Amino acid sequence: MVFVCLAATAPDFAPVKAAADCYTAPHRPLDLKVAHQSRIIERGNWKLVLENNRECYHCAGTHPALCRTFNDDPDLVGSDDSLSSPAGAAHVKRCEEAGLPSRYLIAPQENWRLVRIPFVGEAVSYTMDGKAAAPTLPGMPFANAGSLLFFHYPNTWNHYLSDHVLTFRVLPVSPTETEVVTTWLVHKDAVEGRDYDLTRLTEVWLATNDEDRRVVEENQAGINSPAYEPGPYSARQESGVIQFVDWYLASLARALPSIRVAAE
Ligand SMILES: [Fe+2]
Repeated sequence: MVFVCLAATAPDFAPVKAAADCYTAPHRPLDLKVAHQSRIIERGNWKLVLENNRECYHCAGTHPALCRTFNDDPDLVGSDDSLSSPAGAAHVKRCEEAGLPSRYLIAPQENWRLVRIPFVGEAVSYTMDGKAAAPTLPGMPFANAGSLLFFHYPNTWNHYLSDHVLTFRVLPVSPTETEVVTTWLVHKDAVEGRDYDLTRLTEVWLATNDEDRRVVEENQAGINSPAYEPGPYSARQESGVIQFVDWYLASLARALPSIRVAAE
C-alpha cells in the first residue's frame, strides 16, 4: 500500500504503520500476490461511498451474498468497541490468545481503525458457502479468524481474512463520480485453478460492490433533488457514519480555521 498526502506538511505516519504492521503481520502482506482487481465508477460523491461503507444498516436488504458470512451486528461493525458484542468479545479473546492482534484500536483523531471481527457461524471466508476460497495463509493459526477490518480515511478500507486479503481504494473523479478499485490478494504460491477458483474468490464482493454502487447512486439522485432534506442517522445502526462525519467536519475545522471562526 502506498499512502500519499498532498498537504505541505504530511502528518506523522509512523503510528498507523506500526499498528497496521502489527495487526496484519500474521497475514504476511509481503508474501501475497494480486489475484484479481476490479475498477468501477460510482455516480456519487466520495463521501456517500465512505458513508455507505461505514454502516451495515443497508446490508440485510441489499447484500444477500455478503450476509451469508458477514455479521451485520452494529456492535461489531459500527463505531463501538466490538467487545460490546458477546460474539465479538469471544472472537477477540480467542484470536489474541492465538497471537492474532484483534482488539479494537482507533487513532486519536479517529482517521484510522483496526479490529478483527467474527464471521457468521462457521464461515471462514467471503464465499457463497462460507468455506475458504484459497489456501490458509501460512501465518494464520486457524482458518476461522473472521476478518481484520482496517479503514484509513479518507479513502481506503480493507479486509484481512485467513485465506485472502481485500483492499479497497476510493478516489473522487468529480463531485458526483467516484472510482472504487478492489484488489484480491492470495498467497504468492497459490496457483489459480489448482489452489483457488477466481470466480469463487471474487463473486461475493463483485456483487457487493455493485449493490453498494446502486445504493450510492440512489442516494446521490435523492440529494440532487431540490426537495432533499437530510434525515437523522440512527445512533444504533449508523454510529460509524456519525463517526465518519464527525471526523470529516473536525478535519475541515483544523484545515480551515477561518471556517471554524465563522461557525463559532
Ligand atoms: Fe454495502
